[in-house]
Amino acid sequence: MTTPLELMDVARTLALEAQRLVAAGRREAEVQHTKSSDVDIVTQMDIAAERLLRQRLAELRPDDGVLGEEGDDVASRSGITWVVDPIDGTVNYLYGIPHWSVSVAAVSGPPEPRAWTLEAGAVADAGGSVWSAARGEGAWRDGRRLRREGTPALGASLVATGFQYTADKRAAQGRLVAQLLPQIRDIRRLGSASIDLCHVAAGLVDAYYEHGLHPWDFAAGALIAAEAGLRVAGLDGAAPDDSLLVAAAPGAWDALHDALIAAGARTI
Ligand code: IPD
Ligand code: CA
Ligand code: CA
Repeated sequence: MTTPLELMDVARTLALEAQRLVAAGRREAEVQHTKSSDVDIVTQMDIAAERLLRQRLAELRPDDGVLGEEGDDVASRSGITWVVDPIDGTVNYLYGIPHWSVSVAAVSGPPEPRAWTLEAGAVADAGGSVWSAARGEGAWRDGRRLRREGTPALGASLVATGFQYTADKRAAQGRLVAQLLPQIRDIRRLGSASIDLCHVAAGLVDAYYEHGLHPWDFAAGALIAAEAGLRVAGLDGAAPDDSLLVAAAPGAWDALHDALIAAGARTI
């Protein structure tokens, strides 16, 4: 049995290798195709980074499964599946905004958010920081342990969020954020869900919520936030999934969740 810390080592190594490839290819980045809408883009570097991650996983962890944004699912024979986002924050990457990451997580059990157990994760960001966590062991930014304390009041909270790529979903998310904004300190929309979760873990924002996330957007970041002491959950406290993810200090979670529900979170 591989321990969460051993899986975290693999996640860190591979996330950093892919981050270096992606960073080196920035100047040549071009849109290859679009997905859910014309603004949901894939560059050749998303594809190259995912290829690298899959090759390295096949070498190091040949019996594990893979669930990645830019490739076909590989079924697990070991019980472990790697959930990878080769570039999280592709729009930032294309524009040259240095705020994107490579996100690599290992989960056990069925590879879907309501059923999996997060074992380990790493997020290698554009600046070269590696954020990581292992189940039951804690969370780190590079060598430094992450530990959130305190319970910020909703009205004093700086809240990160993000928006989906389809126009009708964005319209609904815009209506929700318009209702939430007068109740909080401010909103941040930085463009990378995995880094948003790391930022909550580090106290760079107080809380984060988003509707419509894919498993690879949040698998590693959710474990990093949870291991830093935050509550990471979805609608009514269920496991987070594509309906909703809310990350906040345990004592502040209900107030943000309830404000989101009152603003229409159930209907997005
Ligand atoms: C996106 C980013 C963004 C979030 C979107 C994600 P991508 O991932 O994480 O911050 O708001 O929901 O899809 O497309 O850059 O991998
Ligand atoms: Ca993503
Ligand atoms: Ca991506």
